[in-house]
Amino acid sequence: MAEKTILKALRGEVQAVPPIWLMRQAGRYLPEYRATRAQAGDFLKLCYNPELAAEVTLQPIRRFGFDAAILFADILLLPQALGVDLWFETGEGPRLTPVTTPQGLAQLRAPGDVHETLAPIYETLKILKRELPSETTLIGFAGAPWTVASYVIAGRGTPGQEPAHALKAQDRATFAALVDLITEATVEYLSAQVLAGAEVVKLFDSWAGTLQGADFDDFAVAPARKIIAALKERHPGLPIIAFPREAGARYKGFARATGADGVALDNSVSADWAAAEVQVDGCVQGNLDPKLMVEGGARLVSEAKRIVRAFSGGAHIFNLGHGITPDADPDNVHRLIEAVRG
Ligand code: CP3
Repeated sequence: MAEKTILKALRGEVQAVPPIWLMRQAGRYLPEYRATRAQAGDFLKLCYNPELAAEVTLQPIRRFGFDAAILFADILLLPQALGVDLWFETGEGPRLTPVTTPQGLAQLRAPGDVHETLAPIYETLKILKRELPSETTLIGFAGAPWTVASYVIAGRGTPGQEPAHALKAQDRATFAALVDLITEATVEYLSAQVLAGAEVVKLFDSWAGTLQGADFDDFAVAPARKIIAALKERHPGLPIIAFPREAGARYKGFARATGADGVALDNSVSADWAAAEVQVDGCVQGNLDPKLMVEGGARLVSEAKRIVRAFSGGAHIFNLGHGITPDADPDNVHRLIEAVRG
């Protein structure tokens, strides 16, 4: 059987047509997703129902024929498995019981004890491994420790991660211990995902952009490096994508510093800059502004083609700079795929 296009790209192979998938490709912009979510009851019930989670993972593969399927789950399931309360407020987003003290930290579970809660997620991957078309790559994922910690500390999403930055400044030992716990638990979680069938794993550091200077090295680079080294030791050859979102100039050298095979780019960096400075170290993925999936039209096509051209000299996986939004038009996904493959 021919090697899958996503795996070729992550090995560094230059392909005439880049493989394509989209962040949040299973989601509210698809009517079939909204129907399955209603059937499950709510978002968390959907995540923990292996049959229905596999179903929503497969929906965009059936509809669009993407080159990769990403496990349907959420980065906040891991802190939940560590013992942090998690719920979603309708129309607002995630809520967690904040952990900010040594006492709070001491009550959390050990890294190796996350599997009982997360067993249904591994079951979803096993179903997907059976049901995906043979050419489609199965991607598992986790949040990067800084991003996950920012939700655990604040108890919610925060625009500038101020509560996490404050704890880092006021009680660095507790902050660092929380990051370490999440780092170790992430290795256990992703390793179990690989054993269940994930062929690639991706680390989402959605809030890396607010880490400055040495903090970026300590809390974006170092945890990613530890996770990647531990995973590659357990699973030699496992391809890993890192997404230090809004890292700006710090995208340069990130793959080398962490050992990642691919780096996902947000849409704030220039594709030409990234081709010269980031793609030299390996595969790049991303960069298209998700707003174009709402807007559509000639600009969607011209921007997609511009990105394909900019990255045509190296390994490239086509994707957006961030997740596709609920107001996106599914027909624009067909137009995008046509522009990239056509
Ligand atoms: O990409 C995929 O399709 C895979 C599934 C996936 C989800 N979340 C499903 C989801 C992935 C990879 C994530 C990652 C995630 N979750 C991140 C990192 C990536 C990013 O977007 O920056 C973060 C920060 C979260 C935390 C999270 N989950 C928030 C802040 C929210 C609420 C915002 C929103 O869009 O409602 C979620 C909910 C969530 N996760 C949804 C989905 C499809 C929407 C839930 C719904 O159906 O209402």
